[in-house]
Amino acid sequence: MRIGCPKEVKPQEFRVGLTPEAAAEAVGHGHQVVIEAGAGAGSGFTDEDYLRAGAQVAPDAAAVFADAQMIVKVKEPQAAERAMLRKDQVLFTYLHLAPDPDQTHDLLASGVTAIAYETVTDARGGLPLLAPMSEVAGRLAPQVGAWALQKANGGRGVLLGGVPGVRPANVVIIGGGVVGAAAARVAVGMGANVTVMDRSVPRLSYLDDVFMGKLTTQYASAAATADLIRGADMVIGAVLIPGAAAPKLVTRAQLSTMPAGAVLVDVAIDQGGCFETSHATTHHDPIYEVDGIIHYCVANMPGAVARSSTLALGNATLPFVMALADKGWRQAVQDDAFLRAGLATHEGQLTSPPVGAALNLSAVTPDQLLAS
Ligand SMILES: NC(=O)c1ccc[n+]([C@@H]2O[C@H](COP(=O)([O-])OP(=O)(O)OC[C@H]3O[C@@H](n4cnc5c(N)ncnc54)[C@H](O)[C@@H]3O)[C@@H](O)[C@H]2O)c1
Repeated sequence: MRIGCPKEVKPQEFRVGLTPEAAAEAVGHGHQVVIEAGAGAGSGFTDEDYLRAGAQVAPDAAAVFADAQMIVKVKEPQAAERAMLRKDQVLFTYLHLAPDPDQTHDLLASGVTAIAYETVTDARGGLPLLAPMSEVAGRLAPQVGAWALQKANGGRGVLLGGVPGVRPANVVIIGGGVVGAAAARVAVGMGANVTVMDRSVPRLSYLDDVFMGKLTTQYASAAATADLIRGADMVIGAVLIPGAAAPKLVTRAQLSTMPAGAVLVDVAIDQGGCFETSHATTHHDPIYEVDGIIHYCVANMPGAVARSSTLALGNATLPFVMALADKGWRQAVQDDAFLRAGLATHEGQLTSPPVGAALNLSAVTPDQLLAS
């Protein structure tokens, strides 16, 4: 199969869909890989790295799209990219179609077979192509929060790990899923006094087991949240209610109960944020202050560490890329129900009922499509 990987064109996106290692693996399986010149630069990969892996380098995106039977990307295709998609092509990337009628319309009009990273599932009911980015954002959260706590950034001038004779910072993490557990691991490692709150008792029990006394778990009632944030130097918002906007768990009125210069890191900002005073920020201008509390609300946190993020995403996507290339999309999704869950469009047919419901479009399930 001819696999194409264009340079990402969405602003502030430095990841790339295929690493040189992934390209080498595909070439080793007898496939051709065509990468756009400079596509890996944002993640620290040169064109020479791809050439050494056996890939070809194309001068521009048009050449990649024209040549490829399968396009592997990171972000949803932008309008100019969508115009280059074809009926005989497979597109494998993040799509996030439900809030995006224009993209959905264009993918359907192109006839492309689109498979969305974010809806591929695994045997444990998880989302294996979303989890690596949650791991990255979670581990980054205490790091950026520690930076924001520094005096020059408006923070209260508290060192996360304290020093002998001076207590460490209190870090409260609301939501103990993938992001929350990853944040807890780094905050504990930095020596902070960490409390993780969740509404799932089994999840709290799991965290209590694996951290073996290095953090405190607390059921996330409104009263417990109000109580804990009063003494918090940093609060990390990491909740998710699948398919819904994040619930607002800290109100503006509560900010005045927190120590001046405390920091809120709202990782859940991509779902609207879980603090009432959150609004999305960018890596160029990541923090702002409301009522003396510093807010960090970057919606694409993994972009700050593009190289690590590309490698983590590439590890997760590679087995699926290889299955799609080796078997062709139809056999690959027939053999793998978890990959099948990612099928979003095929030859003008929407194959994601949740996207259909969100956009008021008719849709069939991937199983119905394969049976037809
Ligand atoms: N900003 C970014 O760059 C970025 C990157 C990755 C993920 N995210 C976001 O981070 C959030 C968390 O993702 P995740 O992968 O950890 O999800 P997850 O499903 O693994 O974990 C979410 C946790 O929140 C808990 N929860 C739900 N409602 C709660 C409540 N009211 N109080 C306390 N806990 C509650 C759930 O029980 C679950 O344990 C999501 O909104 C995700 O989109 C943001």
